Amino acid sequence: MSDDKTALVGIVMGSKSDWDTMKHCRDMLAEFGVASECRVLSAHRTPQQATEFATTAEERGVEVVIAAAGGAAHLAGVMAAHTLLPVLGVPMQAWSLDGLDSLLATVQMPRGIPVGTLAIGKAGAVNAALLAVSILAGKRPELREKLKTFRRQQAETILGETLE
Ligand code: RP5
Repeated sequence: MSDDKTALVGIVMGSKSDWDTMKHCRDMLAEFGVASECRVLSAHRTPQQATEFATTAEERGVEVVIAAAGGAAHLAGVMAAHTLLPVLGVPMQAWSLDGLDSLLATVQMPRGIPVGTLAIGKAGAVNAALLAVSILAGKRPELREKLKTFRRQQAETILGETLE
């Protein structure tokens, strides 16, 4: 799946079962007008295609890769091994250990090949999008303005909360 505009963010996930979580990442990017390409690719079930996705990402115009996986969760590390682009990892809650296994497998990269790891599940999916926007905003003043507006509106919402 991909948007019409050139995708600046490549979102890859190990299984379609991750999509319920990762669509929040796609949706948050879309709120900022950032197009993304979303693919299901597995580091162990489709290793060649996963590698190709990473090695060709830069030539496709992608500037940030977001990789989500559960269980042994080596997908983000594999992405990072095959591209110089920043790779953000989102651990999926998956089917066991409440996602702690996914978190550790994603965050505990040995030195040399970094993966910027976000929180487990939906919070991580949304924050991966926001971090990708921050990275892209470095050279895009219009995105920087949108990010400022997002933060201001978020603060206003919090400050406007009433309790019964
Ligand atoms: C990982 O295994 C996927 O990223 C997913 O989170 C987990 C479970 O996959 P399915 O068994 O639902 O396909 O590779």
